Amino acid sequence: MRKHIVAGNWKMNTTVAEGVELAKAVVEKSAEIPADVKLIIAPPHTHLYPVHEVVEGTGVGLSAQNCADHEKGAFTGEIAVNMLAGVGCEYTILGHSERRQYYGETDEKLVEKIHLALAAGLSPIFCVGENLEEREAGRHFDVVNAQVKNVLNTLTAEEMAKVIVAYEPVWAIGTGKTASAEQAQEIHAEIRKTLAEKFGALAEEITILYGGSCKPSNAKELFACPDIDGGLIGGAALKADDFIAIALSF
Ligand code: PGA
Repeated sequence: MRKHIVAGNWKMNTTVAEGVELAKAVVEKSAEIPADVKLIIAPPHTHLYPVHEVVEGTGVGLSAQNCADHEKGAFTGEIAVNMLAGVGCEYTILGHSERRQYYGETDEKLVEKIHLALAAGLSPIFCVGENLEEREAGRHFDVVNAQVKNVLNTLTAEEMAKVIVAYEPVWAIGTGKTASAEQAQEIHAEIRKTLAEKFGALAEEITILYGGSCKPSNAKELFACPDIDGGLIGGAALKADDFIAIALSF
């Protein structure tokens, strides 16, 4: 039985005070969530310390949205994996399409980051997904398979067991356009097949999340698909009620 996860990626939204309030509301409402669904929230770096104090001991997991590609040193403006672990993060998102697109994050950089994150005891939420042009050219399987293999095939099985994968078609992120349940299921199954080529039966145990305009109105249909194990939620994670409603959609 794979773990069901609903993770909220707050991106660059909320002040610290607003973030603490949002975390409190999520914790309060998390009592309604079935025990087999794990909630994770990923606030901006500046919020991690106070939000950790809110979520500690509640079962709501804390994630960063990114980490540095070096362990420490002269890298102005960057945040190292040990710093994230030190403020109570258990997870970090890696390879989000916004990082790939706007900050030049390559598969090579992601290989460095994922190894550092795992070494620091963080579970990576590793994002993959094609853009609209790639989808329209029918290249989505190739693009996503390459993203999966280039980074995840560098891991041992023991490391891979700690990774959560998130499939997020770029054309569906923040656009209100969701992949249909069939489109999402087909590519989730493909990702699992690709993972099985390298990791065998372990692929059946890896949680694969769907992300891209996932909201209370479409979560049920998406989560009903056999290879969709939850969601990575952007916009709808900024409202505790919507985030919880999504988590109640299994
Ligand atoms: P969205 O973002 O739910 O706002 O589309 C999802 C994500 O980018 O993780």
